[in-house]
Amino acid sequence: MRALTLWRNARLATLCGAEPWGWVEHGAVLTDGATIAWAGPQTDLPRDLLQVVDRDHDLGRALVTPGIVDCHTHLVYGGQRAREFELRLQGASYEEIARAGGGIRSTVAATRAASDESLFAAARRRALVLMAEGDTTVEIKSGYGLSLHDEGRCLGVARRLAAELPLTVRTSYLGAHALPPEFHGRPDDYITAVCEWMPQLQAAGLVDAVDAFCENIGFSPAQTRRVFETARSLGLPVKLHAEQLSDQGGAALAAGFEALSCDHLEHLNAQGIAAMRDAGTGAVLLPGAYYFLRETKLPPIAQLREHGVPIALATDHNPGSSPGLSLQLMINMACTLFRMTPEEAVRGVTQHAARALGLLERGTLAPGQRADFVVWDLEHPNELAYWFGHNPCRRVVFGGEERGQPQPPGKSVQ
Ligand code: NIG
Ligand code: FE
Repeated sequence: MRALTLWRNARLATLCGAEPWGWVEHGAVLTDGATIAWAGPQTDLPRDLLQVVDRDHDLGRALVTPGIVDCHTHLVYGGQRAREFELRLQGASYEEIARAGGGIRSTVAATRAASDESLFAAARRRALVLMAEGDTTVEIKSGYGLSLHDEGRCLGVARRLAAELPLTVRTSYLGAHALPPEFHGRPDDYITAVCEWMPQLQAAGLVDAVDAFCENIGFSPAQTRRVFETARSLGLPVKLHAEQLSDQGGAALAAGFEALSCDHLEHLNAQGIAAMRDAGTGAVLLPGAYYFLRETKLPPIAQLREHGVPIALATDHNPGSSPGLSLQLMINMACTLFRMTPEEAVRGVTQHAARALGLLERGTLAPGQRADFVVWDLEHPNELAYWFGHNPCRRVVFGGEERGQPQPPGKSVQ
């Protein structure tokens, strides 16, 4: 016999249908196990379904949105780079620090030196901060190990987070993030190694997608292509750190491999936008990195909009370019810095973020979707873009079950 759970007396931002926000002023959601069975105006609840309701929650007119999805993070790493931040404030550029052996490579050294347990404990603290704000799905990249052993350890930590926390984790293998010191002067040999490790990490069940950093201080388009060709031969979807600091034509390259997403995109050109549109590749904008690197060149939002490229937002949490752990703040920044509308920004951390991970059964409140949603101490979703610096997340339902609000970590997130 079916046993449904009713979540009633709510204001719903379903993010589906023709209404702005998919708005339902007096709404209810019915969940059947981990799936949404029905969502809509409470007065339209089908009687036959009401008869099999087992549990009933009155949400007291609170706002309900789909679960929040952070589709681009580098959550697993050792150490921190506050000193580098000071140097940048004194005038050093991100590229200069990277070329001098700091930047990503300094985090690689700290990550390699960290034990499995300390990497896990720090990543867990960071994940709890994200979860406290309503995150139900988080993408986690490797990219600070840069050896088969250490990339495997970092991806293993990401898998363990999903096993131990009420959180969905999608992993991306980012071996092509930076050149490790043992391959100094031999980037093509390193790419060969990255490609050789890929099937081994995949066979260990550690890889959901493959990412790369196509940039002057990362890897060339030709090297990125080799990584993508290997991924394609293994049936793995790809995504790309593209056009962050310069125009490399990375977005068009990634679109040629039907990438799930291209991320950053401050220097994206018109050809890249058209290629993304034609391939169905999503854009992931990262206002935290834009802000923290004090960038001035905006991603081409109007053109992405014009071409109907779906725009997601993410924290890009990492110790170098975006040490923040608040997707709510990213919603606000996307509006203030990027001039996105509040509705675009909220869709960017739900519907479009899920799509950027290839997860089509998440990100809206509709029958058949996974029952991940957030109950907010708010009346309207435009408040998610308006408030910053406090957390209005009241309750989180994960896979149809209420998830206890995690305790804020007693220690720093390092
Ligand atoms: O997404 N751009 C490359 N990767 C990260 C930064 C990594 C770091 O600085 O440690 C990013 O911004
Ligand atoms: Fe990133």
